[in-house]
Amino acid sequence: MSGLARFIQGLPKAELHLHIEGSLEPELMFELARRNRIALPFGSVEEVRKAYAFSNLQDFLDIYYQGADVLRTEEDFKDLALAYFRRVAADGCRHVELFFDPQTHTDRGIPFAVVADGLLAGMAEAERSLGISSKLILCFLRHLDEDAAFATLKAAEPYLDRLVGVGLDSSEVGHPPSKFERVFRAAGERGLKRVAHAGEEGPPEYVWEALQALNVDRIDHGNRALEDPRLVERLAAEGMTLTVCPLSNLKLCVVDDLKAHPIKRMLDLGLSATVNSDDPAYFGGYLGDNWQAVAERVGLTREDLVTLARNSFSGSFLTDAEKARRIAEVDAYAASAG
Ligand code: ADE
Ligand code: ZN
Repeated sequence: MSGLARFIQGLPKAELHLHIEGSLEPELMFELARRNRIALPFGSVEEVRKAYAFSNLQDFLDIYYQGADVLRTEEDFKDLALAYFRRVAADGCRHVELFFDPQTHTDRGIPFAVVADGLLAGMAEAERSLGISSKLILCFLRHLDEDAAFATLKAAEPYLDRLVGVGLDSSEVGHPPSKFERVFRAAGERGLKRVAHAGEEGPPEYVWEALQALNVDRIDHGNRALEDPRLVERLAAEGMTLTVCPLSNLKLCVVDDLKAHPIKRMLDLGLSATVNSDDPAYFGGYLGDNWQAVAERVGLTREDLVTLARNSFSGSFLTDAEKARRIAEVDAYAASAG
């Protein structure tokens, strides 16, 4: 392992943009299909991996929703979460704020409670056995309508004390944040944080809407915000966290080449960018792989990496005291590894 790789691995870090359904590895997909007696449209793990060539977000989403069909029981969701946590423990990940898409499951007849109880059990086990803390974010699917989002918020009512926030994901273009203004307001009134995917494929106007109509606490992706200098100024002035996903951006053709990834530019513009994996089983890399890839291909300094690690905790939904403790750990590591 190179010196840089070792430095990255030891650096305490948080993951703030991870769709748990996107951590479903083909091996586990086959195991769950066998366990649940489901026929897969693929003959082998290799065949599944070969199908993971995407030219845009929708290409990916079609196969991602299909893959989720093997998730049926509470145990399946717990196993999915634990497999992810075990994998990122090796990357020096200390805290995760994970997304789940309840509508992908409730629309197939899987009760909300099966999904939430399974994930929460996996999260509790990861904290006990791996020392990784985590928080859960309920994402509304933006290709569905506002009524469906409200029904999902209602289904979540018994779990509100175990959810940290709501998010907005799925097909971005044609589904602007403003479509969900009222349900985000209702979520805020229930004490939930708000985040939204914006500016992944959608225009800077969608990032403005996420700020102004949804009152978000973080922007997921945000790449296309760079096209609008006034927006960049606003995001920097607010200290708004962007949860950036480099390998996802490459696989979904948001960037042509990692060398041209804007992560360094974002930091230089004073934006609170973070590095995350999005859907690691589909995009060829977990948290550590994303960090290594941008460090090497974009050419980040150790100082940049420490800034990214600090941003991952300051942009989290931990308490101020927890944030301060985690950031002190980052600084102590940087000083000792210096
Ligand atoms: N759902 C899972 N991954 C996503 C992404 N990168 N963008 C939008 N919706 C998603
Ligand atoms: Zn995402």
